[in-house]
Amino acid sequence: MLHLVVDPRSPDPVRIEEAAVALNAGLLVAFPTETVYGLGAHALDPVAVRRIFAAKGRPAWNPVIVHTATAAQARALAREWPATAERLARAFWPGPLTLVLPRADDVPPEVTAGGDAVGLRVPSHPVARALLLAAGIPVAAPSANRSTALSPTTALHVIESLGNDVAIVLDGGPATVGIESTVVDLRGGLVQVLRPGAVSVADIAEVLGAAVQGPGTDPAHDTPRSSPGQMERHYAPRTPLRIVPRTDIEALGADALARTGVLVWQARVPPSENVERLPGDPAGYARELYAALHRLDTEGRREILVEAVPDAAAWDAIRDRLNRASTRA
Ligand code: TXA
Ligand code: MG
Repeated sequence: MLHLVVDPRSPDPVRIEEAAVALNAGLLVAFPTETVYGLGAHALDPVAVRRIFAAKGRPAWNPVIVHTATAAQARALAREWPATAERLARAFWPGPLTLVLPRADDVPPEVTAGGDAVGLRVPSHPVARALLLAAGIPVAAPSANRSTALSPTTALHVIESLGNDVAIVLDGGPATVGIESTVVDLRGGLVQVLRPGAVSVADIAEVLGAAVQGPGTDPAHDTPRSSPGQMERHYAPRTPLRIVPRTDIEALGADALARTGVLVWQARVPPSENVERLPGDPAGYARELYAALHRLDTEGRREILVEAVPDAAAWDAIRDRLNRASTRA
C-alpha cells in the first residue's frame, strides 16, 4: 500500500496522477471526500468494483455510489434526468448529496447490486475533484471501512482497517463534513430521502418548492422505499454503544467513569482520557464525531456512553448515525 500525502488546498498533480493511473488500471484507491474517505474503483470495470466488495466484506445486495467530476458526467450515467435532479444538482453539487436515479445501460450490475437504480454524487473535496478529473472515469466508492463499521474521516482510519487491501491511500487530511452524504431517491417522480446527511430535508424542500418524504424511522415498515444499505446496525464501533441522557452521565461515579468511554457535548464531567467532548453545534459535532468514536473504540472499553443530542431537525443526520451505532446486531 502506498500512502500519498497531498495538500488539500493544492494537491500535487504528480501524486494525483499516480492515483488516477491506478484507478484506470482497476486497482483500489482510497481518497478523501468532504463527507468521509471513499474506497474507490473504476465504476465501469466490474472486476474492479468486485474488489471493493471483497475488501469491505460488503454484502452483494448493497449498491455503491458512483462519483464523477461533473454533473454532466453523472447525468450520462442516468437513464432519466428529471427536473428535480437538475435543480438539486445545481443547488448542491459539488457537495454532500447523492441522487438515486434509473441507471444507464453501461453502469454494471455490480455497482447497482443487480438493481435498476444508480446513486450519483459529485463531491466537493478538492482532492476528490482533482482525482476524478485526472482519472476521467466515474469512480464507484463506498465509505472506506469494513462493512457496518465506523466510517473513516482520516487516512489513518483507512490504513488501520483496509491498509492491506488498497493500492493507494491518498491522504488529504481530515474530512470536513464528517458524516456521509444525504441520499435522495428521485425515481418515479418522487423525492424520498433514504439517508439523512448534511443536506437537510428542509434544504431539499426549499430548492424544489415541494414536499419531500423524509427518511422513515423504521425502514422495514414505515418507508415506501428504503436504501438497501440502511440495515439497522451500521456506522458502529466494536465496543457496545448506548445513548443516555445528560443527567445519567453526570451521575456516573468515578469507578464507572474509569471503565467506560464517554462522549459528551454539554454534560459536566471531569476531563479524562476516556471522555471525548464534541462541539455543541451540529456541523462541528458531525465533523468530529467519527474520530472521537474511533478513539473511544480503540481503548478496550466495556461500553461507550453517548450523551443524547437535541431533538431539533438540524441534528437529524447525527441522531440517525448514533441510533444505528447503538443498535445491537
Ligand atoms: O458521503 C458518502 O456518501 C460516502 C462518500 C465516500 O461519498 N459514501 C458512502 O457510501 O457513504 P456507502 O456505500 O458507505 O453508503 C452509501 C449508501 C448505502 O446505504 C447504499 O445502500 C445507498 O447509499 N445506495 C447506494 N446506491 C444506491 C442505489 N442505487 N439505490 C439505493 N440506495 C443506494
Ligand atoms: Mg458506508
